[in-house]
Amino acid sequence: MTSITFTHPDDWHLHLRDGEQLRAVLPHTAKQFARAIVMPNLRPPVVTVEMALAYRARILAALPAALQSGFEPLMTLYLTDNTLPSEIIRAKESGVIHGVKLYPAGATTNSDAGVTDIAKCYATLAAMEQNNLPLLVHGEVTDADVDVFDREKVFIDRILAPLIQRFPDLRIVFEHVTTRDAVQFVAAASRHIAATITAHHLLLNRNAIFQGGIRPHHYCLPVLKREIHRKVLLEAATSGNPKFFLGTDSAPHSQMNKENVCGCAGIFTAHAAIELYATAFEQAGALNKLEAFASFHGADFYQLPRNTSSITLKKESWVVPEQFDFAGEQLIPLYAGNPLNWKLV
Ligand code: NCD
Ligand code: ZN
Repeated sequence: MTSITFTHPDDWHLHLRDGEQLRAVLPHTAKQFARAIVMPNLRPPVVTVEMALAYRARILAALPAALQSGFEPLMTLYLTDNTLPSEIIRAKESGVIHGVKLYPAGATTNSDAGVTDIAKCYATLAAMEQNNLPLLVHGEVTDADVDVFDREKVFIDRILAPLIQRFPDLRIVFEHVTTRDAVQFVAAASRHIAATITAHHLLLNRNAIFQGGIRPHHYCLPVLKREIHRKVLLEAATSGNPKFFLGTDSAPHSQMNKENVCGCAGIFTAHAAIELYATAFEQAGALNKLEAFASFHGADFYQLPRNTSSITLKKESWVVPEQFDFAGEQLIPLYAGNPLNWKLV
C-alpha cells in the first residue's frame, strides 16, 4: 500500500493554549483535522459560556488565512464546584459548546480550580443529563495515597461507576484511557459511555519514560502504563467498536518547562497526529480500521455530522523536526529527530 485516502478526521481532545502559544500550535492541528474538542484548562480556566465564546473567537482569529474555512473549534466548559445548572442551559443554547470537562482538583496541568467533591456538582450534572450535554472526564483520582499508576482504575471504582448509576442518561467521554481496566469498563458500559485514546498511549509504554535516562518529553498524564495496557488500547482502537475514538491530548509545554526539576505533564503530538496513529494502526495490521476510529466514531458520539472532505496519507519516510517555535520558546514534538513512514499529503 503506497497511500490511503479517507474521510477528514477530527481530534476529540486537544489543548490549544492561548495568545502567542495558540498561534504557534493551532496551524499544526488545523492542517490535519476538520474539528477539535478544545480543552478549557487555561489560566484562568474557561468556566462560563462568555469565556468559551471569547476563547472561540481568539482561536478563529489565530487561524492562518489558508486554513480559515477549514477548521472548526468545538468548545468546552471547565466544571468547578460552583458551576450552575443555568450555565449548562446557556452552554447548550450557545450551539458551540459540546461538552463540560471534569478535572478532579489537582489531577493535572491547570486543574487547581477543578472539582473537589463530585457531590457538589450533582445539580449541574443533572442539568447536563437533561440537556444532552456530554461530560468529559479526566479519569484519575488525586489522593496522595493512591499509586500514580493506579489512579485511573481507582477513579473508575470510586467516582465513575457510581456517577453512571446516579446519572444513567448522562453521556460521558472517558478521556485518554490508558489501562485495560478502563477499556474493559467502557466496553461493558451503556451506549452513553465512550472513550478517547491518544497516539502516544498506542505507541509507547512506561519504559519510554526511563529509556537510558529520564525522558521528560515522554511524561504526560495519565502517565504511560505497562506494555499489557498498551496492547489492550491498540486492540480497542482497532476493534471497530464505536465507543473508542481519536483524541490526541496534544499538550504543548515549552522545552524549559518540560526539562525542569519539576517538569510539566504533556506530550505534543499535533505536528504529526494522524501519521502517529497510522503508524500504530499499521503495526497492528489494521490500517483499514483507522478511518472509523479517526473520522466516524467521535462525530457519531457527539451527534455531529461526519465530515465529507477527505485526506490522503502517503507511504513516505520523513524525519520529524527536532523542535518547533513556541512563542519565542522551543517546543519538542513526539518523535523529534526520528523517522515516520506516513506523511499527510
Ligand atoms: C494536559 C495539559 O498539559 O494541559 N497534560 C497532559 O499530560 N495530558 C492536561 C491533561 O489533559 O491532563
Ligand atoms: Zn488533556
